[in-house]
Amino acid sequence: MQVIKYVFQPHGDDRGQLISLEEFKDIPFRIKRVYYMYETAKGIVRGKHAHKNLEQILVCIHGTCKVKLDNGMEAKIVPLEKPYEGLYVSSNMWREMFDFSSDAVLMVMASELYDENDYIRDYDTFLEYISTGNF
Ligand code: TYD
Repeated sequence: MQVIKYVFQPHGDDRGQLISLEEFKDIPFRIKRVYYMYETAKGIVRGKHAHKNLEQILVCIHGTCKVKLDNGMEAKIVPLEKPYEGLYVSSNMWREMFDFSSDAVLMVMASELYDENDYIRDYDTFLEYISTGNF
């Protein structure tokens, strides 16, 4: 399983750093939605779902967290520890976000608007869905 991690180029000067992310340039899809999580309680695992169509890029813009990606055959754990790193998460990929530092802010850029029908929230249903290959 290939993990795609983007390293964004900051515009740094003696005032500090600035990162700009543009759709189709830095981000490989049209950004239809941005959301972020913060004040995540200790020990919490978020996500625990896959999407049928939606693609995302996750950036831990403050603090740190880990992301487990699982394509049904293989799983990988990717730490997100820098505000200039973006983790690409394709459709049909089970994801879990965990090990949030207390100051973590995890920002997500998504290719689709929020649509509960695009979610697969049960792991066995996910395995079944991808085994059909009908997507
Ligand atoms: P949830 O799907 O449980 O978050 P995650 O699985 O990523 O940990 O979302 C928490 C709540 O927020 C749930 O009631 C749905 C709502 N929500 C929106 O209204 N819009 C959104 O874009 C997202 C991601 C969630």
